[in-house]
Amino acid sequence: ALGVLAACTPAVTTAPLVLPTDPRVREVEAARRSTGRTRSITLAATAGQIDLGGTVVDTWTYDGAVPGREIRISAGDVIEARLVNRLPADTSIHWHGVALRNDMDGTPDLTQPGIAAGAEFTYRFIAPVPGTYWFHPHTGTQLDRGLYAPLIVEDPTEPGAYDAEWVVVLDDWIDGTGTTPDQIFADPRQRTGHMGSMPGMGGTVSPLLGDAGDVTYPHYLINGRTPSALTTFTAKPGQRVRIRFINAGSDTAFRVAVGGHRMTVTHTDGFPITPVDTDALLIGMGERYDALVTLSDGVYPVVALAEGKNATAFALARTATGSAPGPEVRPSELTGSIVGYPALKPTIAATLPAKPPDIVHRLALTGGVMSYDWGINGRTGDLTNPARVREGQRVRIEFVNTTMMWHPMHIHGHTFQLGNSGPRKDTAIVLPGQTLACDFDADNPGQWMTHCHNAYHAEAGMMTLLGYQ
Ligand code: C2O
Ligand code: CU
Repeated sequence: ALGVLAACTPAVTTAPLVLPTDPRVREVEAARRSTGRTRSITLAATAGQIDLGGTVVDTWTYDGAVPGREIRISAGDVIEARLVNRLPADTSIHWHGVALRNDMDGTPDLTQPGIAAGAEFTYRFIAPVPGTYWFHPHTGTQLDRGLYAPLIVEDPTEPGAYDAEWVVVLDDWIDGTGTTPDQIFADPRQRTGHMGSMPGMGGTVSPLLGDAGDVTYPHYLINGRTPSALTTFTAKPGQRVRIRFINAGSDTAFRVAVGGHRMTVTHTDGFPITPVDTDALLIGMGERYDALVTLSDGVYPVVALAEGKNATAFALARTATGSAPGPEVRPSELTGSIVGYPALKPTIAATLPAKPPDIVHRLALTGGVMSYDWGINGRTGDLTNPARVREGQRVRIEFVNTTMMWHPMHIHGHTFQLGNSGPRKDTAIVLPGQTLACDFDADNPGQWMTHCHNAYHAEAGMMTLLGYQ
């Protein structure tokens, strides 16, 4: 079917795992459960033209495709990913959500030097936990140019709970307007003038999130496609489809629904929950949800509303021939029930054993849209004041949102439990005025980025470190 992602099942090789040099990181990596199988893939980050469906853009991609080829492996496999940098700039790959060894986390100047233009780097790590992940550079706003792809870590022990699987990657698209993400970042106010309207100035307010941000993008994409050359997902009537939603956008939360269907949510950021039904899902940047849908006979819209922005990304779900709904449809499910974090209960296996935190770090999210001084505890881009933890501690990070805007906060190298009994996640929306407690066990030594997954907020400085002592 059109627009369905090219999957890549990497070749199996016998390359030995080269262990990290830091003795503590080495010990943890050596203790991870591994299949002993190495899966090898080569990626090239390249500049060039791509077609989003009638819209040809000059941009940066992995191997000329947006999204890049999906990587699919089994839990415990060793990923050996050779990245060849053909961009005119340094780059890196961050494996979003994977609790991997610190030296492969892909954060330039922290876990590795940036990979220079013309150079290459091979990432090698065990991907220990099954789930829906993705990867992108951790260099400036490069991911907003189209450098991103799914990473699916399959669970070999999972019973056949579904008949088909779709990977649905959502994105907001700036390139192709004559303005690159970097240019827009260089003058954030230009974003408002150039792209859309200011909140509070006839602008963009979401009923769910409040201030929906200052940019309305010219295009919203599902699997790299505008509605004029849309993605068509296919299955047979009555089949149960596992849909893996990934929000790869830089500045947009999406509210997604499959017209005419309810969804049964089964995973948050890759971790299983007690299945729960919903009409729609609200997905912040960096978040993933897996849902099961039993498909009726017909052709249905898959619609992702750019939350608060009155624009949509669009695809089709087809189990039969017949005429398709047009991209202007807004299925009623979009305004139906939306399952929120409190209704998402992790399975027992995904629940941390109850334990009071050994240490609590309060990270205040600070700044405002006019001054564009997004920061943490009033400091912008300050990596010199890490939230310090010791191996073995139960850690609580409290994100305290003092701003008027919501922020999808992401912690590298760990997954946390929201509140006492909430879902396991690695990225979570913090609403304006809200405090969100994220608990996890410090079991992955290293220096880890913690930041807002609005690429522009992070670049403006809403980032800090989680640092093992
Ligand atoms: Cu998906 Cu630090 O990022
Ligand atoms: Cu933010």
